[in-house]
Amino acid sequence: MKVVVAGGGVIGLSVAWQAARHGHEVVLADPDPGRGTSWAGAGMLAPVAEAYFGEEAITAFGMAASHRWESWADELRADAGSDPGYTRKGTLVIARDHDELAALVPLHEMQLAQQLRAERVSAREARRIEPALAPAICGGLWLADDHQVDNRLYVRALIDACGRAGVSFVHERAATCAPTHVTLDGGIDMAADAVVVATGTWQPVIEAGGEQIDLYLRPVKGQIIRVRSTNRAVFPTRTVRSGPIYVVPRDHGELAIGATAEERGFDTTVTAGAARELLTKSWELLPGLAEAELVEVMAGLRPGTPDNAPMIGRLPGGPILAMGHFRHGILFSPATAAAVVAMIDGGEVPEVVAPFTPERFAGATTARRQAKART
Ligand code: GLY
Repeated sequence: MKVVVAGGGVIGLSVAWQAARHGHEVVLADPDPGRGTSWAGAGMLAPVAEAYFGEEAITAFGMAASHRWESWADELRADAGSDPGYTRKGTLVIARDHDELAALVPLHEMQLAQQLRAERVSAREARRIEPALAPAICGGLWLADDHQVDNRLYVRALIDACGRAGVSFVHERAATCAPTHVTLDGGIDMAADAVVVATGTWQPVIEAGGEQIDLYLRPVKGQIIRVRSTNRAVFPTRTVRSGPIYVVPRDHGELAIGATAEERGFDTTVTAGAARELLTKSWELLPGLAEAELVEVMAGLRPGTPDNAPMIGRLPGGPILAMGHFRHGILFSPATAAAVVAMIDGGEVPEVVAPFTPERFAGATTARRQAKART
């Protein structure tokens, strides 16, 4: 079958690679594959640390994806001929004071209620695991099942694996995605047996059942800092979090410090206030960071849906969507790719994907279309 994938972030690239591996003729359309939100991310594979109250289906999908990651990284390494920088080291969630420690109690209960592995640790135990932590911390949670990948190495490996598997890249944006064709920004029309939309926060015109569909996506800006040090003693060796702030070390001496969550539309400006907040809070956790070299501040846009869960499935009479991965695109990518390729092949789609049918917003999108028509 001929498959056109619109969008070349980690989701589009993963789908394209897997579809090509399944024998399909794949074209991926993106002006600059891998350079959007996937490039800005930190690469945490953290379904436990990022389990939120009331989001059980998202956590279950994250755990299913998480279990797939080790073999996914091995297959990618073999196909791409390069290392995506996958490591299995767990996450430490740290309370900086007694209020934060108290706030970890319901979080821990929720994690245990979902059969997630999470252990209380004292300040002394946390500092034994990560000696770079500040002496003033109050304790935390040890999450052994979270892991990480170097998002930039991952993106490069996916591009290489796609190339080696025969995926053709068209360096243009998809302007319109219909069930059996994609029109590029420049006006060229590409026919396909299957179209997959994986364009992140940016939404092309989507035609389904003879109508144009509004997906109700919202960009949630995340500012992230990268620092570097040759003195490894100032860095942790695994991901450390505290509230919304996380610190993710890389093997090559860099450290990603993220991230803000700002709802400001399509704005990717980096701001002094966000940089100050990220640096202050991470420095309170890891005082040695003060010595590190500041390498980069950047912002990415997470694609959020009204319920923060992804949209994975075929719109009736429309293309297949792999959209709205919000905070979890890198984590979900192996599981989303498997589900989308099963949809293309007409195979069995895993049950864990069922809650993410795009049709759950059918009422909202219709109401929005009607409201737009009235104005
Ligand atoms: N998953 C990390 C973030 O959204 O900031």
